[in-house]
Amino acid sequence: MAVTADQILDALRSVEDPDLHRDIVTLNFVKDVEIDGGKVSFKVELTTPACPMKDLLHDQAKEAVLALDGVDAVDIEMTAQVRSRSTENEDLIPGVKQAVAIASGKGGVGKSTLTVNLAIALAQQGAKVGLLDADVYGPSIPMMMGCPDERPMTRNSKIMPIERHGIKLMSLGFLITDGQAVLWRGPMVAGTVKQLLADVDWGELDYLLIDLPPGTGDAPMSVAQLVPLTGVVIVTTPHSVAANIAGKAAALFTRLNSPILGVAENMAKFVCPGCGEESKIFAGTTGEELAESLGAPFIGSIPLDPAVGESADRGEPSITAHPERPQAGAFHAMAGSLASQISIKAAESSEPKPVA
Ligand SMILES: Nc1ncnc2c1ncn2[C@@H]1O[C@H](COP(=O)(O)OP(=O)(O)OP(=O)(O)O)[C@@H](O)[C@H]1O
Ligand SMILES: [Mg+2]
Repeated sequence: MAVTADQILDALRSVEDPDLHRDIVTLNFVKDVEIDGGKVSFKVELTTPACPMKDLLHDQAKEAVLALDGVDAVDIEMTAQVRSRSTENEDLIPGVKQAVAIASGKGGVGKSTLTVNLAIALAQQGAKVGLLDADVYGPSIPMMMGCPDERPMTRNSKIMPIERHGIKLMSLGFLITDGQAVLWRGPMVAGTVKQLLADVDWGELDYLLIDLPPGTGDAPMSVAQLVPLTGVVIVTTPHSVAANIAGKAAALFTRLNSPILGVAENMAKFVCPGCGEESKIFAGTTGEELAESLGAPFIGSIPLDPAVGESADRGEPSITAHPERPQAGAFHAMAGSLASQISIKAAESSEPKPVA
């Protein structure tokens, strides 16, 4: 007797998404079940194309359905649909499903480097990605993406982002002439950040990554107040002082209602280019320790690699310039963890709230 769609769905209830702690049928991931004699096909629609569990879920779903009587072939198409932030009131960036800010306490810990490489890693997995350089004091994204001389066009009174490596970019660096010092105070910073969000034609994006200046000044405050963020990534290096002020930045965002999506560690280890051995460089608070103290997930560690700085200086992100080196693998793994944490937050915020 031929298998039924109900039997297939029942079998798939045994497959659980390890991040969301629910089975893939309850999560509504299973679509378009088709049965043709002993051949079964369906789609599994995940909440991010960068899901690190994609292959595992595929294999488990296949195994579960193949075990049913009357099934001899299973064809699964793995797709993804990023869920949207919950936005109340009017939103400055309505086409952006998830907005994530990259913050730190201390300067120079690698926020911009991480933002660029994570954005590319997400885009390489098929996500639609934008990158906003909200460092209005010292915009570095145009240099790092190799397009410092680009000038954006306007269309229908909106500024068109610059596209590089499949990512839509916007930075004050594209709008000011070289060397113009930016010495603004509060209201001007907030106004500029608002323009970079609202007056730019971002279109439909799965993820907008927002690179912040360090600390808890006007730009980070404005970003958190102007748009409902999915959350914030805190970047730290293992100096105690970096972790200490990273904690202060985290506290600001929590107070402004932006959850900490994860702690990212940078430059904690050096991988010897000759033998591949890892050595620790500093003895301060690690990213994992900071994550634990903040009650936030740890989303990975990027090794110190001279190739990262060298490629950034000539305008080529290291993930594309040196895909063979450990830093590239670390960026891909971190992008997967970040995407998982975003999916978890999106699932939590769409859960029905108890009626008061
Ligand atoms: N993993 C790494 N290995 C080697 N060099 C790195 C690494 N990460 C960052 N760098 C280098 O460290 C310097 C600071 O990085 P970056 O500009 O990304 O930091 P930032 O936190 O954005 O700084 P700021 O606070 O000034 O915005 C850059 O020269 C960058 O190339
Ligand atoms: Mg920076």
